[in-house]
Amino acid sequence: MGGIEAAKPASSNLVLILDYGSQYTHLITRRIRQLSVLSLCISGTSPLQSIVEHKPRVVILSGGPHSVHADGAPTFPDGFLEYVEENGVFVLGICYGMQLIVQKFGGEVTVGEKQEYGKMEITVERKGGIFRANEVGEHQIVWMSHGDEAVRLPDGFSVVARSGQGSVAAIENRSKRLFGLQYHPEVTHSARGMDTLRYFLFEVCGLAPDWKMRDVLDEEIEVIKKTVGPDDHVICALSGGVDSTVAATLVHRAIGDRLHCVFVDNGLLRYKERERVMATFESDLHLPVTCVDAADRFLSKLKGVKDPECKRKIIGKEFISIFDDFAQELENKLGRRPEYLVQGTLYPDVIESCPPPGSGRTHSHTIKSHHNVGGLPKDMRLKLIEPLKLLFKDEVRKLGGILDVPEAFLKRHPFPGPGLAVRVLGDVTEGNALEVLRQVDEIFIQSIKDAGLYDSIWQAFAVFLPVQTVGVQGDQRTHSHVVALRAVTSEDGMTADWFYFDHKFLDNVVRKICNSVRGVNRVCLDITSKPPATVEWE
Ligand code: XMP
Repeated sequence: MGGIEAAKPASSNLVLILDYGSQYTHLITRRIRQLSVLSLCISGTSPLQSIVEHKPRVVILSGGPHSVHADGAPTFPDGFLEYVEENGVFVLGICYGMQLIVQKFGGEVTVGEKQEYGKMEITVERKGGIFRANEVGEHQIVWMSHGDEAVRLPDGFSVVARSGQGSVAAIENRSKRLFGLQYHPEVTHSARGMDTLRYFLFEVCGLAPDWKMRDVLDEEIEVIKKTVGPDDHVICALSGGVDSTVAATLVHRAIGDRLHCVFVDNGLLRYKERERVMATFESDLHLPVTCVDAADRFLSKLKGVKDPECKRKIIGKEFISIFDDFAQELENKLGRRPEYLVQGTLYPDVIESCPPPGSGRTHSHTIKSHHNVGGLPKDMRLKLIEPLKLLFKDEVRKLGGILDVPEAFLKRHPFPGPGLAVRVLGDVTEGNALEVLRQVDEIFIQSIKDAGLYDSIWQAFAVFLPVQTVGVQGDQRTHSHVVALRAVTSEDGMTADWFYFDHKFLDNVVRKICNSVRGVNRVCLDITSKPPATVEWE
């Protein structure tokens, strides 16, 4: 499949992050974008050409888990220092990035006697520069996480701040436009971190805060209009989630009804999900959507299947076959094949990061392949349009707001592609498991919304367990099903913690479930974090 790029920055008002593997690298990118400056992240070992192509005004060298002395420690390419010098590019090294600067310019980095981890106080010794005439405070609390330390600075560099233990915490060489922070200004524990980044970008480097979501939208629409020919048609599979909806709405703005969307009811959707999302697509967003009722197709294939990976594969395959049929029908109707496919790929899916040491990988990709049930066949010969490719989730939500996607829709919890199939443990077609689960889930989610907790929770759902336990209802002994409730807080789904409900809330929810859902006589609460568990049960 060929592809068209998301709109590339037109200006060179760009901050390029070279990633050396710190767990905080993406956070730097996001923080800078929060200051309305476009920031992109590429691997710290990228060739010089990749850096030059971006025409950055500022380069930030990220932190990383390596020691600059280690064999194979990652570093910027040959010619990088000459390039930044000749082109007036500002460079800020953070943690490992600062140590790289010190080492490359002939200073000395050693394994620190007093390794510094966690919150520390630093004292600013030199006014101006990155701390802007001490406006961020002569003393500030910052987040340190380093073993090595800079013990001798190269010629032309000065110490700007020191930690309470006397270690170098910030350096600069103003005439060469080189700066370094030993701590992490991007994490919230560094109380004045955002101010420091703000002063650095706007006062020191003279950048303008001119990256606005509205401009991103206009640029994307222009790119799509230019790329998609006047008679070309475009197709898109909508999942009911935020990303595909925002991507489709944007493309619809650009090319109108030459966009053709499909929403598949696979029989594994939540209570009234199909009616609800179709109403949003049609009434709020005026998207041209065909709803395919394929419940029987999916459920007949899933009959008797217990293994979750098998379920995922069957669902993914069936989805592709339905999508193929949709494209074929469209071709019959239009008399030509659709040329393009819209996908709601996000920035975290495409960033290449420096791998952690010892991982044996050259680059880490964050694409969760098993989650991409929408992954479409390579032989479809469709070119890709990925208008959200440079955006983080929170930015997509902002963009959705500008496109008038209803706020409640933008805040929906994520929902797995294979739907309730991975929330009914075992055979999804057995008895009335799906129906029971839909009702339980609806009560749980509605109670969460009524209590005003929905936006504080990252994802909440119910799980149907394939076991029956004994109970007593009325004067009758029952032998009914157990359901589990799960609600988690998380940043990105990679790690998660269980959400603390108060007892009264739980008591009410469980009563409601047992009193109104036939076939359930016991409700459990999942209080496991991820790791060791995952968010879903299957
Ligand atoms: P886990 O269970 O992997 O979930 O901790 C992390 C996030 O991914 C969702 N999830 C899936 N999404 N297909 C999907 O599209 C899947 O097979 C799948 N499994 C988990 C899960 O709901 C959570 O948001």
